[in-house]
Amino acid sequence: MSAPFKLDLTHRPRRLRRTANVRSLVEETVLTPADFIAPLFVVDGKGAPEPIASMPGVFRRNIADLVKECRVLAKLGVPAVALFPKLDKKFKDEMGTAALAEDALILRAVRAVKKAVPDLVVMTDIALDPYTAHGHDGMLTSDGRDVANDATVEILVKMAVLHARAGVDFVAPSDMMDGRIGVIRKALDAAGCTETAIMGYSAKFASAYYGPFRDAVGSASSAGTHYLDKRTYQLNPANRREALIEIALDEAEGADILMVKPAGAYLDIIREVRNATRKPVAAYQVSGEYAQIQAAAQMGWLDLERTRHESLLSIKRAGADMILTYFAKEMAAVLKK
Ligand code: PBG
Repeated sequence: MSAPFKLDLTHRPRRLRRTANVRSLVEETVLTPADFIAPLFVVDGKGAPEPIASMPGVFRRNIADLVKECRVLAKLGVPAVALFPKLDKKFKDEMGTAALAEDALILRAVRAVKKAVPDLVVMTDIALDPYTAHGHDGMLTSDGRDVANDATVEILVKMAVLHARAGVDFVAPSDMMDGRIGVIRKALDAAGCTETAIMGYSAKFASAYYGPFRDAVGSASSAGTHYLDKRTYQLNPANRREALIEIALDEAEGADILMVKPAGAYLDIIREVRNATRKPVAAYQVSGEYAQIQAAAQMGWLDLERTRHESLLSIKRAGADMILTYFAKEMAAVLKK
């Protein structure tokens, strides 16, 4: 009988994968509850939490329930929330006028959360899509064929100051208008809000993965399509260099944190951004990424816990310092154990 076949190998990388303890010694990326920012949807009134069909486990909550959810998140070690209002149709118009209302739902929500859970970092979106009847992130040009850049920025600046005065820790311009970070920074400073930080949705792509979010805030176009075309302001998914230009501009204009969005299909962009800046980098695992995993899990085709963990781990490994994810609460609960 011949001797068992033996390779004469110097390197056997499997030596570092032999046991759970060895694997944990050489583990390069570890998720913690502190990595997450939980996006939350808020509605007016006193109704029960409203489920969102395309986002199982995600609800629109009234302010009192939102505050409760924030307490739970804070207890679990999630450091931050990003709040999104869903307005009744009757408050929407062509200009997004309700964005500047003094008693706007989002401002009341911010005050309530900051009062109840002062240490929780609160972020709000600065963009007009929850407020415009057409669902675009800004007001339209006079011919109605595009979003007007400068006129929109003029409104966003006022909106950012209102949010800062209501007590948000971060304003997060998600509109992709040119030049908005710089003027928002100047306006915040002029208003005495020098401590209010800016998280730029800096490399935000025109993505099909936003569909479920548009159900959640009711910003799918009036025609009812999920794929409201935002390609004149959001980035072309084909372009990497252009994303880096947007990142550099937001950084130069004073953004404190730079975001890439979506995350899972844009891991190369996250890595490039990580290498291009010393600023913290955020990534947004968007509604469609969440929905995809939930749907496959409901079909029994993917394991929910393992898939969501792997998806988030990959985003962190790509270079994200923090991740906006609808899985924040469940992940924190699992990681805390
Ligand atoms: C809009 C905004 C969008 C998201 C966050 N802010 C959608 C869009 O640009 O149409 C998407 C988030 C998600 O899909 O989870 N300013």
